[in-house]
Amino acid sequence: MYRGGMAPVTLAKRATLRAVGTGVRAASTVTPFRPQGKQSYQDTLRTLSEASVEQCFNAFKDIAWDSPEFALSDDDDRWLLPRVDPLGATAWYQELPRARQLEVGRHRLVAMTKTGSQFEQLLLIGGAQFLMGLKNENPEFCYFMHELTEECHHIQMFQELTNRACPDVVGAPLWLRRSIPLVGLLGGLWPSLFFTIILAGEEPIDHLQKKMMRAGGQLHPMLTRITQIHIAEEARHIGFAHAWLEHHAPAMNAVNKLALGLMVPMVLRLGYGAIVVPSREDQAAMGIPDRVMREAFGGAENAKTRRDVCADVRHMGETTGILTPLTRIAWRLWGVDGRASRYRSEPASAAA
Ligand SMILES: [Fe+2]
Ligand SMILES: [Fe+2]
Repeated sequence: MYRGGMAPVTLAKRATLRAVGTGVRAASTVTPFRPQGKQSYQDTLRTLSEASVEQCFNAFKDIAWDSPEFALSDDDDRWLLPRVDPLGATAWYQELPRARQLEVGRHRLVAMTKTGSQFEQLLLIGGAQFLMGLKNENPEFCYFMHELTEECHHIQMFQELTNRACPDVVGAPLWLRRSIPLVGLLGGLWPSLFFTIILAGEEPIDHLQKKMMRAGGQLHPMLTRITQIHIAEEARHIGFAHAWLEHHAPAMNAVNKLALGLMVPMVLRLGYGAIVVPSREDQAAMGIPDRVMREAFGGAENAKTRRDVCADVRHMGETTGILTPLTRIAWRLWGVDGRASRYRSEPASAAA
């Protein structure tokens, strides 16, 4: 029986892990974790646990916070918002004076980072309660404890960047900040909904971070470094949430599946909005007019991005029986419907 011990790691995996740890450019070489088709759930947990031991980052050892290249200045063009960002693409942003563009860009990028850390605090609260319900020798405990450890380092690195680059940000909207302790209870009371909430928080951040890295523009090296680390480790987290849901789905009763089918699209919509759309406080701090908010986040382009971000969750929904012709109505109403991806992390262009 698997007890969380280590097995030999393949040379290919070691090569990937070394690449991730060496430098800023390595992020584009990271291969997302994808459980093999025939791999058993137990094997998946073992692989994930091994990878977490081999590839783990420490927020204060693996990031050179005080290095000269991480220096912060008010006239650093690397804080300009890329055009792949909905706000960065607006005429309002493009026509701002350069100093204001940098100010808004820095606030926006740090605010999304801060919101990510708030989601991860939710994951810690709910995750600890989920673990309390597991029996001895359940390998889910070993892997998920690794995940919570990694999230602690993510919170540390996100908060450190926030403190250094823009301590004025607020991050998540007030309703989410207030409800995090209550939502965390779901980790023990309703784990299947809790794992979809994890996906609702992790998929949009992962999608946006990859989009920004792939866009090829120059981000500030401090942001690049934490994004690189986060993409590498989130691949495992997202892989586990999908695997957990798919493994436990056959034991879920019809009422639970129906409830999930109706709740998950709402969770996806709210999670995406909390991460991508600036909170009222951050909107005011950046001086973004309401009409620009509507243009950036209320239009067809943003709706398409939202549906694209949810493609992997739709795949999970279809394979688990959560997304059915009946519940698809709710997915459409919440604006997260569309085609399911054929495989994990399938690019939206390939799914079109
Ligand atoms: Fe994370
Ligand atoms: Fe995560």
